[in-house]
Amino acid sequence: MTTSAAQPPVIAIDGPAASGKGTIAYNIATTLGYHYLDSGALYRVVALRALEHDVGAGDAAALATLALDVDVSFRAGRALLGGRSVGDALRTEAVSAAASRIAIHPAVRAALLARQRAFRTPPGLVAEGRDMGTVVFPDASLKVFLTATAEARAERRYKQLIDKGIPANIDGLLRDIRERDLRDSTRAAAPLVPAPDAVLLDTTDLTIAEVTDAVLALHCVRHDPA
Ligand code: DC
Repeated sequence: MTTSAAQPPVIAIDGPAASGKGTIAYNIATTLGYHYLDSGALYRVVALRALEHDVGAGDAAALATLALDVDVSFRAGRALLGGRSVGDALRTEAVSAAASRIAIHPAVRAALLARQRAFRTPPGLVAEGRDMGTVVFPDASLKVFLTATAEARAERRYKQLIDKGIPANIDGLLRDIRERDLRDSTRAAAPLVPAPDAVLLDTTDLTIAEVTDAVLALHCVRHDPA
């Protein structure tokens, strides 16, 4: 699919948990001077609010209302909830698991759709998540689907936590990642699958910088094929 003439370009980067897509997407947005959408943060903010307000992960209607009303904004790629910085609170395993659970509801996904599309403003957008290329921006000018083995992703998450001085257990992290992969990829609504026109990139043996360069090279070819 090609970008419609009236719309700013979108680079859609999708992939499973801990595939490095957040850092890569943010680096690309910064390099190109594009806006950046961390769509997972929206699901995480709704999950955090639901946990704070005792809304159950099965209550689709109440969760959709939360998703519509939530006062979330971003500053330098970091989420603010009602003006309060919630970057670290969003990254706990409790919020990660709750976000994956609430994301199965079509009503929650629908409530977040317009909010995500509103990020598409000039000069362009780098959007990362699970369904950027399939549902939210099906006309993205470039779609990339990042993969890496569950073991490599658990290892990356383990190193991140240890570097921050947070105790971590590699077996537990691997189990959580596999559970989340299964739930994200088998749900009926907007499952984690590559768009038919996505470029698949296995990052298992690549550094963040190598993946960033590879995506930028793909963007340049699409943007300026001469
Ligand atoms: O990308 P992330 O790990 O921050 O996302 C957290 C959860 O939110 C993920 O397990 C599934 C859900 N999510 C989604 O369903 N669709 C998206 N576009 C982004 C995230």
